[in-house]
Amino acid sequence: MSDDNREPILRIRGVTRRFGGLTAIRNVTIDVPHRSIFSVIGPNGAGKTTLFNCITGFYRPNEGEIIFEGRPIHGLRPDQITKGGIARTYQNIHLFGGMTALENILVGMHSRLESGPVNAILRLPDNRAEEDAALARAYELLRFIDLPDVGDMIASNLPYGSQRRLEIARALASSPSLLLLDEPTAGMNLQETDDIMHFIRRLRDERGLTVLLIEHHMELVMNVSEHIAVLDFGQKIAEGTPEEIQNNPRVIEAYLGAPADQLHVGAAQKPAATGETAHGAA
Ligand SMILES: Nc1ncnc2c1ncn2[C@@H]1O[C@H](COP(=O)(O)OP(=O)(O)OP(=O)(O)O)[C@@H](O)[C@H]1O
Ligand SMILES: [Mg+2]
Repeated sequence: MSDDNREPILRIRGVTRRFGGLTAIRNVTIDVPHRSIFSVIGPNGAGKTTLFNCITGFYRPNEGEIIFEGRPIHGLRPDQITKGGIARTYQNIHLFGGMTALENILVGMHSRLESGPVNAILRLPDNRAEEDAALARAYELLRFIDLPDVGDMIASNLPYGSQRRLEIARALASSPSLLLLDEPTAGMNLQETDDIMHFIRRLRDERGLTVLLIEHHMELVMNVSEHIAVLDFGQKIAEGTPEEIQNNPRVIEAYLGAPADQLHVGAAQKPAATGETAHGAA
């Protein structure tokens, strides 16, 4: 089937999420096409992570619906949503710091294993075939993230950039069709950021994934995305191609206060906003 004829893999319809008197996202509607790289951008506090938390079941929308591969998922638990094919990484790295890189990936795999995480980790003999397959796949994921030799290393001892990549591998371990990346380059240097950009392309081109990306690094966003939605104070203020977004007056206005040319590819300066200012359920 041609991807062009398919329904969007993810439809966010009129989603609102409030925290007490604060409306973190208001009536947001976004369609994410199959096998696209789709970015959500916006100033700090715009509601980007809250949107991810609604998609992944960490928060229930107060209003609206979220349809994944044709089925409503709002109201499902996070583990049900993971099992259904959506995986994520976090603005602040979530790994089991005391476990090895390999064990972190095996834990990520547990939603797809019949025997569950305990057997997978304890390597109980009644699931030998499944366990061998899981280990082979975990090593394959380590190769895919270009960290083939770190399997036995304790996650918290890995360099920061490698931990971010390991988190992506952990997310991939659940065999998602949709991957949500919340500021994957936060805290990275330019070379690491460039590596992540190529890596995001490979996720789509080689693995057929759809990637929904939150990112403050505008050069990466403009280079890698086919579609961009812009949130500001919880509302979607623009949507379009990178070129359309860079020339949209409302978007430029929303980013004023920082250099206006930060929206343009080739901008020498990294935007001031990074994951280090993260808050809430990041
Ligand atoms: N659990 C929560 N309880 C109360 N307020 C929250 C909660 N989570 C988020 N918020 C608020 O909702 C708004 C949107 O936050 P969110 O983290 O979604 O923004 P963001 O766009 O991801 O920002 P950043 O770029 O800084 O990560 C903020 O005002 C934030 O303080
Ligand atoms: Mg955020």
